[in-house]
Amino acid sequence: MPDKKNVTESEHARRVREMFAGIANRYDLLNHLLSGNTDKRWRRLVAKRLHETLSEEGARILDVACGTGDLSLALAKGTGARVVGTDFCRPMLQIAASKAQTNDFSEIPFVEGDALSLPFADGSFDAVTIAFGLRNLASVEGGLKELWRVLKPGGRVAILEFSTPIVPGFRALFRFYFTRVLPRIGGMISGSRGAYEYLPDSVSRFPDQKRLAQMMSEAGFEEIEYQNLTGGVAALHLGTRTR
Ligand SMILES: C[S@@+](CC[C@H](N)C(=O)[O-])C[C@H]1O[C@@H](n2cnc3c(N)ncnc32)[C@H](O)[C@@H]1O
Repeated sequence: MPDKKNVTESEHARRVREMFAGIANRYDLLNHLLSGNTDKRWRRLVAKRLHETLSEEGARILDVACGTGDLSLALAKGTGARVVGTDFCRPMLQIAASKAQTNDFSEIPFVEGDALSLPFADGSFDAVTIAFGLRNLASVEGGLKELWRVLKPGGRVAILEFSTPIVPGFRALFRFYFTRVLPRIGGMISGSRGAYEYLPDSVSRFPDQKRLAQMMSEAGFEEIEYQNLTGGVAALHLGTRTR
């Protein structure tokens, strides 16, 4: 399983891509099951917080590390926004494309691309989102810089990611669920226990709410704010490329 410590960036990327390819077919089912459908609510909140931008005439939105496309679809739903999804794992993108087709969103293009070297010109999008993707990148700093690069000045970024629960007792309880219960269920249903051991492992290495806000600032974002979700199990960070 991916381990950031002793591998090169390309080896890390290869392992992450293979891991998601291996669980792609069960990814949605497990997401909804293991979170009790809370993940859907979190993604709808991203769309709600970006509603002003999404409703602008001809708004262009990029959903990075879109996976099976749930956030891409939530962003397009009820808005005129022209959403593009991108991910570097083809089996995840294939599921996204067929889901879009079934839900009458066949106009959403799903493009193969690496979040650390996005196949889009500077200043292309009015908003950029990444949900549960940033923590998987070989470089969080590099990912943030790419998100900033493809945004238009005035454009908004939304980062949805697992984070650090704020209440200590709940934090301990959640850690137990995340490290002991979730890998068993995830392993049983997906056939890849490693992928569901990697999940808590990657979250434990990921910066907490305040540190991520600081890293966004270092990458050039301004007007940064964040909202804890479900007691800090996840957090939604928002920012703007002002210039
Ligand atoms: C946990 S899934 C999240 C998918 C989706 N955004 C969601 O909310 O369900 C993480 C996704 O990030 C993608 N990913 C990881 N590293 C990537 C990279 N360097 N470039 C593009 N996609 C990447 C994986 O292929 C996977 O589809």
